[in-house]
Amino acid sequence: MTITRSLVPIAGLATGLFAGWVVFPTVLYTTVDQPVQFNHAAHTGNGAGMSCQDCHALGQDGRFAGIPGIHQCAECHEEPIGSSENERRFVEEYVQQNREVPWLVYARQPDNAYFPHVVHVHKAKLACETCHGKHGSSSGLRPYEMNRISGYSRDIWGSSIAGIKSQAWDGMKMDDCISCHSVHNNDRACIDCHK
Ligand code: HEC
Ligand code: HEC
Ligand code: HEC
Ligand code: HEC
Ligand code: HEC
Repeated sequence: MTITRSLVPIAGLATGLFAGWVVFPTVLYTTVDQPVQFNHAAHTGNGAGMSCQDCHALGQDGRFAGIPGIHQCAECHEEPIGSSENERRFVEEYVQQNREVPWLVYARQPDNAYFPHVVHVHKAKLACETCHGKHGSSSGLRPYEMNRISGYSRDIWGSSIAGIKSQAWDGMKMDDCISCHSVHNNDRACIDCHK
C-alpha cells in the first residue's frame, strides 16, 4: 500500500510530462503533406548529376532564384522518365498543364523578417547544410508542420518543444540568427532584419 501511494506523485509527474511533451506538440502543430514528393537525391550527384546551383541559382548580383519554376522541370519531364506513380501524376497535373507546384517552404520566415541568401553563401561562405540540414541529399519530403497559433513553420522554433537545439539547423528563431551573428562579430540593428 505504501509503495502504491508513493507512486502517486510519480504517476502525476508522468502524466504531466506526457501532456507537455507528447500531447501539447500534437495539438500545437497541424500537419500538411507536400503537393508532390520531390527527391533531391535522384536529381543531384549520382542521380541526374545536377548541382544545387542548377536549380537554386544565386547570382553575384544578390538575386536568389529560390525554388525552380515548372518550366525548368519541363526540360526533362515533358513525359515521365521513370515508372513511379508520383512522377506520372506530377507530369500530368503540373508539367503538361504548365501549373506551378505550390511547395510548402519549411524554412519560411514571417513576412516582416528579411533574409538575404547572397551575403550568407558568398560573403560568409556558409554551407547550405548549416541552416537547412540534409535537405539537399534527402530522397523524400516530410510533412510540413504549421504552428496553429502563429501560423509559422515548425522549423522556425525547431523540433524540441523546449527549444533545445540538437543541430545547427534545428530552429531558426530570431535568437538563432543573432547568436550566429555575435559569434561572427556581426551585430545587426533591428532594421537590418525587419523591413
Ligand atoms: C532539379 C532541381 C533541384 C536541384 C538540382 C536541387 N534542388 Fe533543392 N529544391 C528543389 C525543389 C523542387 C524544391 C521544393 C521542394 C522541396 O522542398 O524539396 C527544393 C527545395 C530546397 C530547399 C528548401 C527547403 C525548405 O525549407 O522548404 C533547400 C534548402 C534545397 N532545396 C537545397 C538544395 C541543395 C543543397 C541542393 C544541392 C545538393 C539542391 N537543393 C538541388 C529542386 C532542386
Ligand atoms: C536534367 C533533367 C531533370 C530535371 C531538369 C528535373 N528532373 Fe526530375 N527527374 C529526373 C530523373 C533522371 C529522375 C529519375 C527518374 C527515375 O528513374 O524514376 C527524376 C525523377 C523525378 C520525380 C520522380 C521521383 C520519385 O521518386 O517519384 C519527380 C517527382 C521529379 N523528378 C520532379 C522534378 C521537378 C519538380 C523538377 C523541377 C524542379 C525536376 N524534376 C527537374 C531528371 C530531371
Ligand atoms: C544562414 C542560413 C542559411 C544558409 C547558409 C542558406 N539558407 Fe536557404 N534559407 C534560409 C532562410 C532563413 C530561409 C527562409 C527565407 C525567407 O522566408 O525569407 C531560406 C529559404 C531557402 C529556400 C526556399 C525558397 C526561398 O526563396 O526562400 C531555398 C530553396 C533555400 N533556402 C536554398 C538554399 C541553398 C541551396 C543554400 C546553399 C547554397 C542555402 N539555402 C543556404 C537560411 C539559409
Ligand atoms: C539578425 C536578424 C534580426 C535582428 C537583428 C532582429 N530580429 Fe527580430 N526577428 C528576426 C526573425 C528571423 C524573426 C522571426 C522568427 C522569430 O519569431 O523568432 C524575428 C521576430 C521578431 C519579433 C516577433 C514577431 C513575431 O511575429 O513573432 C519581434 C517583436 C522582433 N523580432 C523585434 C525585434 C527588435 C525590436 C529588434 C532590435 C532590437 C530585432 N527584432 C532584431 C530577426 C532579427
Ligand atoms: C550560421 C551563421 C548565421 C546565421 C544562422 C544567420 N546569419 Fe545572417 N549573417 C551571418 C554572417 C557571418 C554575416 C556577415 C557576412 C559579411 O558581411 O561578411 C551575416 C549578415 C547578415 C545580414 C546583413 C546583410 C548585408 O547586406 O550586409 C542580414 C540582414 C542577416 N545576416 C540576416 C539574418 C537573418 C534574418 C537570419 C536568421 C533568419 C540570419 N541572418 C542567420 C551569419 C549568419
